[in-house]
Amino acid sequence: MISLGIVGTNWITEQFVKATDETKTFSLTHVYSRTEIKAKSFIEDLNKKNVNVSTDLNSFFKENFNTVYIASPNSLHFSQAKLAIENGKNVIVEKPSTSTIEEFTILDKLAHEKGVYIFEAARHIHEPIFKKIQIVVDKHRDNLSGATLSYMKYSSRYDAYLEGKNPNVFTTKFSGGALYDLGVYTIYDAVVLFGRPGKVSYEAEILDSGIDGSGTLTLKYPKFDVNIIVGKTKNSYMSSEIYFGRDTLLLDNAGDINHLDWADDNKNITDVPTSKSENPMDSEAKEFARIMNENDTVSYDKLLKYARIVNRVLEQARTSAGLVFEADEEN
Ligand SMILES: NC(=O)c1ccc[n+]([C@@H]2O[C@H](COP(=O)([O-])OP(=O)(O)OC[C@H]3O[C@@H](n4cnc5c(N)ncnc54)[C@H](OP(=O)(O)O)[C@@H]3O)[C@@H](O)[C@H]2O)c1
Repeated sequence: MISLGIVGTNWITEQFVKATDETKTFSLTHVYSRTEIKAKSFIEDLNKKNVNVSTDLNSFFKENFNTVYIASPNSLHFSQAKLAIENGKNVIVEKPSTSTIEEFTILDKLAHEKGVYIFEAARHIHEPIFKKIQIVVDKHRDNLSGATLSYMKYSSRYDAYLEGKNPNVFTTKFSGGALYDLGVYTIYDAVVLFGRPGKVSYEAEILDSGIDGSGTLTLKYPKFDVNIIVGKTKNSYMSSEIYFGRDTLLLDNAGDINHLDWADDNKNITDVPTSKSENPMDSEAKEFARIMNENDTVSYDKLLKYARIVNRVLEQARTSAGLVFEADEEN
């Protein structure tokens, strides 16, 4: 198993560590947290033994472990991943890996120079259900005529925002907002299934904090459009759809996909059989470890290419909506 350090001690890190246990891929050896108490309680909750704790990021990255999983607020990914790479660590960084394409380019180049891997943790594209969508799209690609993708979920942190607290994901300081938090999944859908889009435009409902609470995004392809709805300030129960002329593939959701149906011209709707693992991070943990263990550069380059396009589209989209992050001024 590959030794693992983690940055960020929220529920998502716990889910990732559980995925690495379930898949027997990585073994947690080091935890970084801003506070020792949080690090220790994280380790205790997972019932782990012999895990080192650090509250200093510089010394943490000098410790002897192979790969770091970074799940901190978005704007911190860049400096933390950069430091990790400089110290020779392989990096798995939560989506979106960077706030700007410039940051992405720097990390990409540095990882290449240092001979380490950098993975963007876009969990859903590794899941069997997504692979099934790829098979269906490939089979009917000649008739592909567009998509409507939706991922809109009322965030409990929106309540905190309305109460005047400043949750990270609702701030420009931490590169938050609906597009970067949830839209990133839908952009991955489009990029992996349909390739790199041409024109990108985003119309956002911008909150007083300066981030987008929700919005609609259009990705233009030569022969069709992909229309996307994202939001963190309301709940949507709309299904997502990929169009093939008269036929339609229905996804119950574009970011957290649990069910697929096929609808034909006669309105016959049939279930598309798929499987879904209980922990949605199992598949990515397995895939990242496999790529590293087998040094599968073909698969790695493909993932890196997707991540590069997605990070570029994110930046194009928010620029078109006039969304500015503090990270824009930092580079
Ligand atoms: N793949 C998925 O399904 C999924 C789901 C949720 C989130 N995510 C991604 O995971 C990342 C973290 O999201 P989150 O909602 O967990 O974020 P968060 O709660 O704001 O912060 C995550 C962790 O970062 C540290 N942190 C918080 N505020 C900080 C600050 N001001 N300065 C330095 N460190 C700070 C905290 O760890 P310590 O207190 O221990 O330092 C905290 O546990 C994001 O990139 C998000 O997009 C992915």
